[in-house]
Amino acid sequence: MLGMQYYLGEASLAADREGILRRTWQFIGHERQLPDVGDYLADVIGGSPVVVVRREAGELSAFHNVCRHRAGALVADGQGHCDGAFTCRYHGWRYALDGRLRSAVDFGQAPGFDPRDYGLFPVRVETWRGLVFVNLDPAAAPLAEALAPLAPYALPDFPLVERRTHHLGCNWKTYVENYLEGYHLPVVHPEFDRDIVVADYRVEIEGDVCFHSAPARDGSVNAGFWAWLWPNLAINTYRHGFMVERMTADAHDRTRLDYFYFFDPARPQELADMFVVSDRVTAQDKQVCEEVHRNLAAGIYQGGVLSPKHEASIAWFHDRIAQARAPASAARLEAVS
Ligand code: FES
Ligand SMILES: [Fe+2]
Repeated sequence: MLGMQYYLGEASLAADREGILRRTWQFIGHERQLPDVGDYLADVIGGSPVVVVRREAGELSAFHNVCRHRAGALVADGQGHCDGAFTCRYHGWRYALDGRLRSAVDFGQAPGFDPRDYGLFPVRVETWRGLVFVNLDPAAAPLAEALAPLAPYALPDFPLVERRTHHLGCNWKTYVENYLEGYHLPVVHPEFDRDIVVADYRVEIEGDVCFHSAPARDGSVNAGFWAWLWPNLAINTYRHGFMVERMTADAHDRTRLDYFYFFDPARPQELADMFVVSDRVTAQDKQVCEEVHRNLAAGIYQGGVLSPKHEASIAWFHDRIAQARAPASAARLEAVS
């Protein structure tokens, strides 16, 4: 079990960001959200504002969303479009989509100032089955390596039909631990057994991926297959679609769940049924996770015990967290020049 210091306090969040969230591939959106040159997605990843943009030749590039002048934001968070260049929202410096500073607008004469020294800081970006990931660690292994266990699986070609966000008052790892086991299903989600055979729920770990499966009953909403990717992403499959679920640490005691739903557009009734189930499950998990967080913060609990039958995945997760939190040297940023 991880000690309580892993779940509480600003230092714990900083250690998770530095050791884990800024060194792993983080999902930011789908390629379909940026079809045209100049389309971008901006979000805060591991505490760092990042922007991904569609370049002239069709490829994606990503940068820290931080102007080299006085740290203004190039674009607002979310999905948008810029015409061939980023124009900083503070004083209007313009950057080409390859990150070079094109114009320090009306800057005036400044001895020794060379715009070539003020390109944006790049961020790694790679895609898998249309899903776009960024990695703040310039030395990280390729995305395909982390996702190798998912290689045999296709993602159905459904459109992104909806995004939903949920805010939880707990540490992100408390929510992940809840996701990683099926032990709580009969108590927290009693309705689940109508949809899948809860008694046959299986959890298996392969590399960076934790697979969950259970036989789906006739007419189920769920397809009975879930893949969780270290450290904070899940792909939940439904009979007529799937949902990508990102678990973001907004603070040591606040977690944001961003759900990206991809669904068969010819199935509006099944879509509505799926939202009822998805929202209910999230509300149930939110309640238990917030109760756990309150109890961790109360200082009474000193670490418990994990079921080998149901919670081996949590023991594995704890080992990975402890290893990743071990001190490592910070990577140095090299700007575009
Ligand atoms: S901070 Fe970007 S132009 Fe000043
Ligand atoms: Fe749950």
